[in-house]
Amino acid sequence: MLGLKLPTDPRWVNIVEKNIEEILTDHAYCEQKATSTAISLIVSFPEYTELVTEMTALVKEEISHFKMVHDRIIANGWVLGRDRKDEYVIQLLKFFPKGGSRTTQLVHRLLYAALIEARSCERFRLLSEELKDKDLAEFYRNLMVSEANHYTMFLGFARQYGDRDDVDEKWQQLLDYEADIMKDLSKKETIHG
Ligand SMILES: [Fe+2]
Ligand SMILES: [Fe+2]
Repeated sequence: MLGLKLPTDPRWVNIVEKNIEEILTDHAYCEQKATSTAISLIVSFPEYTELVTEMTALVKEEISHFKMVHDRIIANGWVLGRDRKDEYVIQLLKFFPKGGSRTTQLVHRLLYAALIEARSCERFRLLSEELKDKDLAEFYRNLMVSEANHYTMFLGFARQYGDRDDVDEKWQQLLDYEADIMKDLSKKETIHG
């Protein structure tokens, strides 16, 4: 349903379970970056009224996710650590060439956002199914549903604002590229690592 071409190795959950503080820290920043992405799309593309409306709602939702993760960190007696380098996102953002028309740039940013939501959703699903801590598993099940909706929204906007065939072709190419990146990942206790 998410279109991803390489499923995460379920053994990644075993790595995560050994360091819940690390996954929550990384996850908190994923939610913070999702908030920033929504704000940045508003700033860059104010004339796309429907997008601005949806991104305004998304800012609130993603920052509430950040709060949920941060609250769990506090409840465990931990303090939020520094941001982790997201090698996955760094690699991903190299795919589309820089520049092009405003519409092209918008489509590229929407496709990146759709893919990051899709992979996050897949990771959350795995956590919800495999984590031995049932409370944490339930926490991830709820977030998985939200991120699936975000994936659909971003891909929908890309198809709405760009040329449908061109967008679908780019989406398939991006999915292939992402699967290639994922081959070397799934080894760290981070959301995309
Ligand atoms: Fe989120
Ligand atoms: Fe999201």
